[in-house]
Formats: sequence, structure tokens, C-alpha cells
Amino acid sequence: MSNQSNQILKNTNAQILDEFNASIMFDKELYAQDIKGSIAHSQMLAEQGILTLEEQKAIETGLLQVKNEIESGEFKFSLAYEDIHMAVETRLTEIIGEPGKRLHTARSRNDQVATDFRLYVQDKSLSIKAQLKELVETFVSVASKHTTTLIPGMTHLQHAQPLNFGYHLLAYANMFKRDFERFESSYERNNYCPLGSAALAGTPHNINRVSTSQKLGFIAPTSHAMDTVSDRDFALEILFNISTAMMHISRISEELILWSSYEFQFVRMSDEYATTSSIMPQKKNPDVPELLRGKTGRVYGNLISLFTVMKGLPLAYNKDTQEDKEGVFDSVKTMEISISILNEVIKTMIVNVDKMQNACKIGHLSATDFADYLVTKQNMPFRTAYYLTKDVVTKANSLNKDISELNIDEIRSSNEELKDINEEILMFLDLRNSMNARTSLGGTATSQTVSQIEIFKEWLKN
Ligand code: ARG
Repeated sequence: MSNQSNQILKNTNAQILDEFNASIMFDKELYAQDIKGSIAHSQMLAEQGILTLEEQKAIETGLLQVKNEIESGEFKFSLAYEDIHMAVETRLTEIIGEPGKRLHTARSRNDQVATDFRLYVQDKSLSIKAQLKELVETFVSVASKHTTTLIPGMTHLQHAQPLNFGYHLLAYANMFKRDFERFESSYERNNYCPLGSAALAGTPHNINRVSTSQKLGFIAPTSHAMDTVSDRDFALEILFNISTAMMHISRISEELILWSSYEFQFVRMSDEYATTSSIMPQKKNPDVPELLRGKTGRVYGNLISLFTVMKGLPLAYNKDTQEDKEGVFDSVKTMEISISILNEVIKTMIVNVDKMQNACKIGHLSATDFADYLVTKQNMPFRTAYYLTKDVVTKANSLNKDISELNIDEIRSSNEELKDINEEILMFLDLRNSMNARTSLGGTATSQTVSQIEIFKEWLKN
């Protein structure tokens, strides 16, 4: 190989390695947090007499200018900077000269990145929480319109017992409320400030970590420098919280896909959320809920990916940790867009009340009520009642009727032991009565659903 081509190869190699090593192309997302952290750090250094007031002023003004340049698109992100921390500091020093070089006193990129990333995760936990609350509100509001709409409740995807549709929707309101609470408790658990941990062991400079922490809106500084620079639990928590919320989004999406199918026709989604087939002109495909279900896979991937990055790391900071960011950014964006789309889908879906109610007449949904009647009114052991009820179901099947459609003679003739059963049993087999009979706490009766909605409305006020 000629000397010249050797040189070219070397250059290319250096370039590839720069690119491999750098995080600037994705961690620029953290520019605002990086600048915020640097301003707080410089203010603390000035309070402690480590920087003069003039130096601090110059640094703060310079940092705000860098922020402006980034936000106006003027700032040139280059691989030469390696990461957002070096990019901001280098540009700051270009603008203000010597004082810029003092900013990195008593800190390291290790505590800096831990701070920037934690600030990002904390901000996003708050905004996702707010979105989840809106979603709960939507479910509650649609539920309140359907507290008397019957829908077949299912187990094993088989007709089981009649519910009201509002009750079904409130199951999701509960899931998204728990998600809200998960983001909230993670926020509280992780609201501690890494800055001042320095590289791994703290710093000999006379810093005041409490002051920095207050300026950045944390509760207090973290308590162990080495743990802090290597800890990414906060990132794993948001990935887990997002995964759980996406799993819930995926489940309602699956139901929407089923409910909007020809076989169910329980709901119709607004045309915006469906697309046509390129070959079958009659089709309306539920692409949007399918994508919500599909995107759940990638957020699980991001969670497993970071768990795998972290599992073998010796203390303290290791460059592997640079791999923590892209997955979190991706999951956060997926979460944000998914909540807002689902919110619109639920708000705009058209509920086909007749189809839902007619579907309740298939599958003997009130069969359990028959058994419950024998237990309550005739003091029969449940298992005995269960077998008698089976005979009534068999009778109904032979007549091609639902159990709720049988007349008293048909019931009496289904088993010798039922020959004197009181006519009032017909009331108990009525589908609406069956739904309304389930007044136990957390049950489906309209009265229960209405009081659950009231509890949600109170919660939503806070
Ligand atoms: N870009 C790095 C990251 O994202 C910042 C910390 C680098 N620290 C170091 N000592 N190389 O993790």
C-alpha cells in the first residue's frame, strides 16, 4: 500500500472512531438541561467564592447566548465536540474567553451527564403524567355516557356476564390512573441532584451541593458520589413506566380492533384513524390502533436494552452508559404521541349501542344469575344450583333461545327439581337486571359505576 493510501485509511479510521465515540448527534436533545445545569453550577461556584461575580455573569450571559444560537438553528453541531457538554463549553469559551475555562471547576462530565439526563427524565415524567390525566378524564367522560349501555363481559374472549359499557371503560381509567401514580412516585424517588459528585469520588473544592440542588428544583443532593455517576435506575424506571402504560394502550387498542371488526361492530372509529387497502377497495383497516399495539414492542425493547447495558458494569462511570439515551428519547416520544392519539380515538369513536346490547342476547350471560337465585332464595348449595342451571342452558340451546328469553314453562320443564320454581326468576334472568344486581364494591351495577365515576371526578379535580 502506498504511503498516501495508508494515510487516507488512517483518516477514515479516525473519522469512523470519532463518530463511534461521539454522542453529540443524539445528546444535543439535552442542550437546555445542560445549560440550565451549568448556570446553576456557576452560580453556586460564585456563592462559594470559587468564581468571581464578574466571571459568573460572563458565564451566564455566554451560556444564554449559546442557548439562543442552538434554538435559532445557528449553532453548528459537529462531531469534533464529541458530546453536548463539550459542545456547550467549547462554544462558551469561544464567546467569553478565559472565564469559560473555569466553568468545569469541581465537576466532571460524569456528574454533568447524570444531571442533564435526570432533569430530562424528571421533566418528561411530569408532562407524561399530565397527558395521562387527560386520558383518564376522557375515559371517565365517555364512561359517564354509557352507564346503562349493555355490553357482553367476556373471559377467555367468550361471553360471560352482562356489563355496562361505562364500567368496561373505567377499567382503563383505573389502569391509566395507576400509570399516572407510577410516574409520580418515580419522580419523587429520583428527585435528587447528581451535580457535585464530580468524576466518582467528590471534589476537594468547597462546593455547596444543597445550593445547586435547590437551583435545579431537586429535593436534595444525592448522597453517594460513586453510586450517583453510575446509577441509571431513574432511566430504567421511566422506561418501565412507559412500557406499562404502553401495554395498557396496547390492550385497549386490541379491543378497539376487535370491536370495530365486522363480527363485533360495537364501535366505529373516525375515518382519520383507518386506512384503505391498496387492493381491496371495500376495506377500512384500523391501522392506528394496530400501530399503537405494535409500538409497544419497541418500548419493551428499549427497556430490555438498557437493563442489558447496565447488568455487567463495574463501578463507577463506564462509557457503555452513553447507550442509555437514545432508547429513552425514543420511548418518551412514542409515549407522548401514543397517549395523544389514543385520547382522540376514544373521544371520537362512535359507540353502536344496539349492536352491543343485541350481542348480550347470545351466550346465556345471565346463567350465573339463575344459580345465584337458587342459592339465595332456596338456600341451595352453589354446586347443586350450578348443575340445575346447566340443564336450563341445555334447554335454551335446544330451543335456540338465550336463557334470558325462556318463559316460565320452559324453565320449569328443564329439570324435575325446577318444576315449582317461582315466576319471579324471569326478572333475575333479565340482562339489565343481571347487570344491575352486581352492586358489590367494584361491581358492574350502574349504581356502582356512577359512584366510581364520582370518585374519579374528585380525583381529576386535584
Ligand atoms: N457522552 C457521555 C455520555 O453520554 C458523557 C460522559 C462522558 N464522560 C466521560 N468520562 N467520558 O455518557
